[in-house]
Amino acid sequence: MLIAGLAAIVLVIVGETALFTATNTQNGGTASIVADAKPQVARPPATAPMIIPAPTFSTGATEPVQPPAPAAFDKTARSIDDPTSIWFVVNKTRPIPDAAAYVPPDLVALRGDIPNPNGFPLRQEAADALAVMADAATAEIGQQLVAQSGYRSFGVQTNAYNRYVGQLGTAGAELTSARPGFSEHQTGMGIDILAVGSGCPVDGPCFGDTTAGQWLAANAYRFGFLLRYPADKTAVTGYEYEPWHFRYIGVDLAAEMHTQGVTTLEEFFGLPAAPAYLD
Ligand code: DAL
Ligand code: ZN
Repeated sequence: MLIAGLAAIVLVIVGETALFTATNTQNGGTASIVADAKPQVARPPATAPMIIPAPTFSTGATEPVQPPAPAAFDKTARSIDDPTSIWFVVNKTRPIPDAAAYVPPDLVALRGDIPNPNGFPLRQEAADALAVMADAATAEIGQQLVAQSGYRSFGVQTNAYNRYVGQLGTAGAELTSARPGFSEHQTGMGIDILAVGSGCPVDGPCFGDTTAGQWLAANAYRFGFLLRYPADKTAVTGYEYEPWHFRYIGVDLAAEMHTQGVTTLEEFFGLPAAPAYLD
């Protein structure tokens, strides 16, 4: 290949000289006329070494084009402070603002074929994503997902929290139930999911060991959901493992977290761990 490239360069130089001579003859034998008629060709001084550029070769095909580097994920694209944002981060140190009065927009009933024994709604976008995920669970593992809980108002969360305190005492309750004003359920984007026939309650690790629980843990991100309280992140989230509790955050963020292998919103957004309330 190098020899071919050098040969091509020599041919170009020789050819140009021949043209120069022929043109010179046609124009009456004076070099100056030819020089005026042709574009000037820079020639190295006779004593200078000829510098031959490295030969380049082309197949004639379009040169391969490198794909542009993927744009960095923009962590500021949505608010993490606005409770109506699908990226809103609520935890024991980040309550819902003006929580006693907060009701999320666009709450809707779940699609009718999804078992929903307590009748809780979700925000429209989360309900739509749940329906797609339920269909995928049916198609991929033959399991019917159950919406065990969804949007809980401030008042309903108060009752749930008090019930847990009565059963477990305050310390035990606070590992599994948010105080009113601090629950993802009040955003309309938190959902407790079980499956028909799983035999598991919304308590303990049982559901995480089922086919549906394992499928959800591995696939929920495809539909924009995050398993919000992983078994190994109690020190970050403040809650014990809840294999049934999923939070809708949208496909973009869920997929990015999955790709990065980051499992909590606190870690992804660089927020402080929230193992306990501030008071
Ligand atoms: N079980 C979750 C932590 C809640 O009560 O919001
Ligand atoms: Zn929950």
